[in-house]
Amino acid sequence: MDINTAKAQINDKGFLDLEIDPQIDLFAEIQKLKKEKNAILLAHYYQETDIQDVADYIGDSLGLAQQAEQTTADMIVFAGVHFMAETAKILNPSKKVILPDLKAGCSLADSAPTPLFKAFREKHPDHIVISYINCTAEIKALSDIICTSSNAEKIIDSLPKDQPIIFAPDRNLGAWLNKRSGRNMLLWNGACMVHEIFSLEKITKLKLRHPKAKVLAHPECEEAVLNVADYIGSTTQLLKYSASDSAEEFIVATETGILHQMQLQSPQKTFIPAPPNNNCACNDCPHMKLNTLEKIYLCLRYELPELTMDETLRLAAKKPMDKMMEISRSQGII
Ligand code: 13P
Ligand code: SF4
Repeated sequence: MDINTAKAQINDKGFLDLEIDPQIDLFAEIQKLKKEKNAILLAHYYQETDIQDVADYIGDSLGLAQQAEQTTADMIVFAGVHFMAETAKILNPSKKVILPDLKAGCSLADSAPTPLFKAFREKHPDHIVISYINCTAEIKALSDIICTSSNAEKIIDSLPKDQPIIFAPDRNLGAWLNKRSGRNMLLWNGACMVHEIFSLEKITKLKLRHPKAKVLAHPECEEAVLNVADYIGSTTQLLKYSASDSAEEFIVATETGILHQMQLQSPQKTFIPAPPNNNCACNDCPHMKLNTLEKIYLCLRYELPELTMDETLRLAAKKPMDKMMEISRSQGII
């Protein structure tokens, strides 16, 4: 396939849609291509299990950002969603960043359109803007500090108590942080479609059937779910807790992909995905799950789709990312 046909296909579909010989061993081919091209495959915990198994590093948003910043590979293959690949480019622009599907977005990032957010920010000039990393590069560029679910509390605590703050885009994480920090941050009204789907009623019923099970929840969940959680944290924090805690059963209120690593680290324990409020598989992120082993193989082989970014935007988005890294280092988080 010539490069123009490939580019046209990506403009249209967001990924390379090519026939792959069904006989080939995708695992072996991906490993071979990574070696040949000196590429690193970074994957989020919400990726399908095959992708996690072939990745060089699996982690939460903070861990992935750190890996992207520090890698000496020539190419970063990002198995996650668009804002994560953008973050890699922001932090390490000399690397070629490719992703399996350009259309793997994020409902939370989509809930903060740039012009509306800019106007909101301008209405509150005395506020510092802390944005969750799940946002576009444009929103990052309009922010003062970025945070992730694993460092948000410490980043907020590092600011003076009387400092007015806007927190965006996740209203659930923001409300939880307000409670934890005793602040009254102004919250942008965004949310993640996956974490808002859990049913308190079904979790309560599940708890009756599994009275010894502990509930683990991601702070993107709604307050009612967080109120019944035994432990709340980022994906990495939930994973660590599940491995170190003495409980034998856990109900997990986050995207189902994380269960793979939980089960690998604690094969003797039982992990039950928290049920959604209907009968669909809505606790699978439809964006994360757009990535497949086939698309990873093709994007590595053709080095497409590539994530590129305007340099002015990149530099503006890097400032609040650097601030996050600086505070995280000084607080001993990374
Ligand atoms: P973390 O893995 O950083 O906790 O983020 C969860 C998430 O929703 C990523 O899209
Ligand atoms: Fe976005 Fe939610 Fe999917 Fe994470 S799980 S990528 S926050 S839609």
